[in-house]
Amino acid sequence: MTNYYETTFIRIRGRENALAWKMAQSPLCTHLYIAPGNAGSSRFGTNVPIGVNDFAAIRAFVIEKSITMVVVGPEDPLVKGIRNFFEADPELNTILLIGPDSAGAQLEGSKDFSKLFMQKNNIPTAAYATFTKATLQEGYLFLETLKPPYVLKADGLAAGKGVLILHDLVVAQQELKLMLEEGKFGEAGSKVVIEEFLDGIEVSVFVLSDGKNYVILPEAKDYKRIGEGDTGLNTGGMGAVSPVPFVDMPFMKKVEERIIIPTVNGLQEAGIVYKGFIFIGLMCVKGEPFVIEYNARMGDPETEVVIPRLKNDLVELFIAVANQSLNKVKIETDSRTAVTTMLVSGGYPEDYEKGQVITGLENCEESLLFHAGTEMKEGKIITSGGRVLAITSFGNSIEEAAEKSTRNATKINYEKKYFRKDIGQDLMKKVTN
Ligand code: AMP
Ligand code: GLY
Repeated sequence: MTNYYETTFIRIRGRENALAWKMAQSPLCTHLYIAPGNAGSSRFGTNVPIGVNDFAAIRAFVIEKSITMVVVGPEDPLVKGIRNFFEADPELNTILLIGPDSAGAQLEGSKDFSKLFMQKNNIPTAAYATFTKATLQEGYLFLETLKPPYVLKADGLAAGKGVLILHDLVVAQQELKLMLEEGKFGEAGSKVVIEEFLDGIEVSVFVLSDGKNYVILPEAKDYKRIGEGDTGLNTGGMGAVSPVPFVDMPFMKKVEERIIIPTVNGLQEAGIVYKGFIFIGLMCVKGEPFVIEYNARMGDPETEVVIPRLKNDLVELFIAVANQSLNKVKIETDSRTAVTTMLVSGGYPEDYEKGQVITGLENCEESLLFHAGTEMKEGKIITSGGRVLAITSFGNSIEEAAEKSTRNATKINYEKKYFRKDIGQDLMKKVTN
């Protein structure tokens, strides 16, 4: 093993900030480049202005800097085949890349593919059927056989907006038509998965796979709605908690036996050497786990609680992925609870303003700050996105960790700042560690 690892990221948000923070702590990481980076990531390495899907510019940069490891943060370049691009190029194919090839990324890139994959491998998930423009009438009839609420999913990537949960049959039929005939969600909606609604509590499980072996990272619960008490529009995620009190050993045993093992085996049987993260979105229905979705990357803001709880050297884990030696790795976790609170721009997830000056960052105590939509301009840190900053705190209980994150959220200021003060509250009645 060489102790010289240069690393680059492709796209930066809170998730990539947390990964960069962790990798920069590794003695194996001599230099970290973050593409494109933001006002926070320059604390951990060098920002480079390269876009996430600009494979040619990424190629030129990794060759110029003799980069030895590339960690891909978001799904887009994975679905577009960045691993295939590296593997096909004699100048890039020895570089260690974290993230699946385009076939593996279909777990996230196509809902229809992932449902078929689950069906084939007997992985518990909601009953479903897939429709196209040619089968719209069958889609209307299928909806009539279901009980509300109706779950409609655009097949392809739709920036987290492609899932509709509707209570009215007529509205569901109209939306189906809009997706299949009127191009709502564009090409991503040219196929639509309609599935049974699962009533339960959501939890996310994270697996790192080397194509043969896997390790399970700490689980997390994400808070997707904009409003307190889980109300209002869906967002990318307003906060996260790890560990999740109801995820006990018996539940995780079910998840591993019924979901993780068949997933890893199913990928191998499909001829996919999956080297990267598998994010499994689960619904716990009366204690039984069902898969809601797979993602081919880590979650955001889940990463901001999962990675701080990980005690292992992340670069060492990534090297084990490349060497297919994850079977020799033991995951060590911090037993404390981590809570992330997201500061967002007022108006998000709908229209919001950018360019607000952020102050008070230096007043935060006892929390980690992971920048998401921030930018440095004329010496000032300004907002540049809907989700602005993730504040992660540790505590011996959810209450203690959440209180620290909330306290620091009030110390940071910018015009129209918004955050949820109830992250983790639904879980607090349960026993914490
Ligand atoms: P997805 O993009 O597939 O994760 O879906 C977005 C959100 O919709 C999930 O996080 C769930 O809250 C919800 N959802 C998706 N599928 C179902 C389902 N079959 N039953 C209930 N809720 C669902
Ligand atoms: N927090 C959900 C996601 O990253 O997809």
